Formats: sequence, C-alpha cells, structure tokens
Amino acid sequence: MALSTATASPYLSPLLRLRSTYYRCWYEVSRGLKWVRRHYHEHPACTLPESLTTQQRRRIEALQVKYGIHFEDQFHVSTTLENYEYLDLLDQTKEALGWNPDLHKEMVDVGSLNFYYAPALHAFFQPRQLQGIELEGYRIYTNFYSRFDYAQCYIRPFTNTSYTVMDFCDYTGSADGITCFYPFVIPEPLVAWRLPLKVFQPERLFERMTHSLRRNGFVLLMNHGEEEARWACDFAQRSGLQLQGPPLPIPPLFPRAEIPIVSLWNKP
Ligand SMILES: C[S@@+](CC[C@H](N)C(=O)[O-])C[C@H]1O[C@@H](n2cnc3c(N)ncnc32)[C@H](O)[C@@H]1O
Repeated sequence: MALSTATASPYLSPLLRLRSTYYRCWYEVSRGLKWVRRHYHEHPACTLPESLTTQQRRRIEALQVKYGIHFEDQFHVSTTLENYEYLDLLDQTKEALGWNPDLHKEMVDVGSLNFYYAPALHAFFQPRQLQGIELEGYRIYTNFYSRFDYAQCYIRPFTNTSYTVMDFCDYTGSADGITCFYPFVIPEPLVAWRLPLKVFQPERLFERMTHSLRRNGFVLLMNHGEEEARWACDFAQRSGLQLQGPPLPIPPLFPRAEIPIVSLWNKP
C-alpha cells in the first residue's frame, strides 16, 4: 500500500454529532457505574467447529503445531476462533515482513475491548508482562457482565497480565512493544461503536504510544482497510515513529468487511 498524507480534518455531519451526544450520556454512565459482576466463565469448545473450511482447518492445525496451543481447550467457540484469527494475523505479519520480535518483553495493548485476544498475544509474544488498556472497560453486555468481567476470564491463565480501564492518552508507563488493533483514526467508526466524539483524539493517542515506547521498541498497528491505514500511518509518522517496511494487507482467516492492513513501526 502506498502511503499518502491524510492531513485534512474530518467532516463531522450534524447527524454524527447528534448520535455522539446521545452516546456521551451512556459513556458517562458506564464510567460512573464501574460495573463488575466477576466470575464470568466460558465453557471450553473442546473441538473445532464442523463449519470450518478445509483451508481454515489446515491453517489452524498448523498454528496449533507451531505455537503449541489449543484455544478450544479453554474458551468458547467464538473466542477460540477469534484467537486463531489474531494469531494468524500476527504469524502472517511475521512471515511477510521477515520480522522476529524479541520474546519475553514488556508489552502493552491499546484499546483492548474485553481483551478476548490476550491468549493469542501470549502465544505469539510470550511476554514477560502484558497490559491491556481500554477506555470503556465497564460497558455492560446484555447478560449483565461487563467488558471488565470478560477480560478477567481471558487473562486468568496468565499471572503476568492485567487489564486496566483508562484513557491511554493518560498512560504514564513504558513498554518494549505496543500492539494496537483497529484504533479509531476517523470519527465515523468511533461513533458506530457508540462512543462520543469527545474521546476522538488520535493525535494524542499516537503521541502517547510513541512517548511510552522504549528506544528500539516496536508498535504493531492493524487497521481496517486502506483509508483507515492511511490515516493511522499519517498519525504514526507525525508522532515520530519510523515505518519498518511498507504497510501490508493481510488476508484474514475469516471473512471481514475490510481487509486488515498491518504496519510495523519503531522508535529510532
Ligand atoms: C475498534 S475497537 C478495537 C478493539 C480491539 N482492539 C479489537 O481488535 O477487537 C477500538 C477500541 O479502542 C478503545 N479505545 C478508543 N480510544 C481509546 C483510548 N484513548 N484509550 C484506550 N482505549 C481506547 C475503544 O473503546 C474500543 O474498545
């Protein structure tokens, strides 16, 4: 993918602003409530679903051998497949860029949702420490568990892993490696995810990632499609990160609306 500078400020339609105002109420409620029920648990799928294509099954079996993992022994089928999907993205990135990340490092994941992919990050990076940071970690699902509750289930097997509910723009720690899957770099997806525009601060987010990264550390960025990748690369470059090889489309294990585009950055 060719990099071009995406400098213009995004247009914010009146409808987008209206929806944002509505979501702001819910955002403030969720921040104020800090809802935690604890003891969310998933029954292990134990086997892979019959619905997989031969190609998907073969790829998953190859990942199982290469990384010595069987996510289905611990998690529900959807979590299992999502973890194979993220591990596949990471493994393809490694092969495509000839990248050999150092293992046993201190890692931070930015915008972790409920951290359902923490097991895949563990399998790939074998981190010494892993911290997931999520802005709206107390959002409540229809079963009355919160993202925080789910995250506790996904990180339970790993003693060196934590999930912190905070705005990453206020993060004061440091890391050897940062992963950031699908950050909000244009306003529409942020509002579609029911967040208010007041939290749309991509410049600050990227500046904080660069600031938090130790020298020679890396940032692995994954974006939805070319437009978001262009914006993300622009923010990353302006924050002082250096691109390692061209941003690459990675064919996902399961169909997605937009092809994931990966880019790898370091702090010179
Ligand atoms: C598109 S979602 C991607 C979630 C997850 N990384 C994944 O791959 O499924 C972006 C996530 O980033 C979170 N987020 C947005 N701004 C943030 C910030 N400033 N600090 C921490 N998390 C943030 C959102 O709440 C949302 O969960």
